[in-house]
Amino acid sequence: MANMVLTPEQQAILDGAKGETAAKVMKTLVMFGETFGAQKMVPVTSEYGHLVTSFGLSVMKPVYALMDQLIQGGALSGQKFSVDPRPLDKNVPSNLLQDLVFKFMYSKQTDYEKQLNTLGLLNSDAFTCTCYMDEVGNKPNKGDVLSWAESSAVVYANSVLGARCNRNSGILELFGSVVGYVPYFGLLTDEGRKATWIVEIKTTKKPEAQILGSAIGMKVMEDVPYVKGLSKFIGTELNADATAYLKDFGAATASNGAVGLYHIEGLTPEAVELGEKLVAGGAQTYVVDDAELERVKKSYPCIWKDPNATPKLCFVGCPHLSIKQLHDWTTALSEALAKEGRKKVAIPTVFTSALAVQAEFKKTPDYQKLLGMGVVLSYICPLMYMNNPLCGKQPVITNSNKLRTYTSARYHTDAEILDILSKGGN
Ligand code: F3S
Repeated sequence: MANMVLTPEQQAILDGAKGETAAKVMKTLVMFGETFGAQKMVPVTSEYGHLVTSFGLSVMKPVYALMDQLIQGGALSGQKFSVDPRPLDKNVPSNLLQDLVFKFMYSKQTDYEKQLNTLGLLNSDAFTCTCYMDEVGNKPNKGDVLSWAESSAVVYANSVLGARCNRNSGILELFGSVVGYVPYFGLLTDEGRKATWIVEIKTTKKPEAQILGSAIGMKVMEDVPYVKGLSKFIGTELNADATAYLKDFGAATASNGAVGLYHIEGLTPEAVELGEKLVAGGAQTYVVDDAELERVKKSYPCIWKDPNATPKLCFVGCPHLSIKQLHDWTTALSEALAKEGRKKVAIPTVFTSALAVQAEFKKTPDYQKLLGMGVVLSYICPLMYMNNPLCGKQPVITNSNKLRTYTSARYHTDAEILDILSKGGN
């Protein structure tokens, strides 16, 4: 192989010491690394992996064949892994026709989950994009090298936890877990973690996480931003509120742009440690004020067939909600409903979160309170739910900028969602 210098252990895998299949996996990773100028492979040091491909779509035949090849060749994952959310949950409202479509589309779900089990699935509940939540237990340490691909989890792990992971693609991330090495380039390096943008927050109030993330993502694309002036709104401590904010902010930067790492002055670990030493020479500046956020929000197209339609469904929790967010939404919703003299939400509503988070939430009185308001609590991925022509045609609203980007769902701020759920209308 051209430029890459491998250690004797890595070379041995490439030469077939762990079997022909592992050799092919290694070769793929080496070629991938060389495409990006990597000169070496480094060990994956996190305890667990995380896979993005969670769905048994009937059309993904090559994936299942590849998984079979890995299993038969003994090239299993060297680390247990969690996986993105399941695409189906019978508790989420759907009609007969939609159920038929789901059954056909995801006909491989059971078989695929069997393959995941054999390869190294952490446990049968480990399906969530927020695997880093305490309740789920796949939370990398600062400095850990990861082989993940889920964009919202990669940006969180890099930025909030200080782990190191590139924005890999699906399957390649599994390959890293199989051989235990990833190519060293990009966000794994000190140089690649430097900010080439300074973002100055000059808003008069706390910016909506999902709009701020969207604005920054669209401006800097795959670059690293260093954000100043945000800690005055969200504090200088990575507590439950700040981490939930950064989860949603980061998912928007990663999906509306392609951000894999951001630094928040005075808050995220590397920014606290290194301050402006993280900013590369010649960095550009982006100023975000109230008018800029308004401009960004207004730029979102509504692609519903009838823009004035009454919403049929509301999704909150993409990425999956933290336990603090579940409690906060329960309180806010019950206050909003009480104000309008309502007992239940005006349109069918689904809150999504990890099963392990739900298990903790279910131990509290808020769980019954939430159900009492007519909200469905699910572990589904709303994007997978909407990713078919039938559901895609429905007027769905959401507070997720990721869901808005990839589907026909219409974005609303948290306050607007509360308003719609408590008053009805559109
Ligand atoms: Fe998570 Fe699915 Fe949204 S993976 S971030 S709930 S699109």
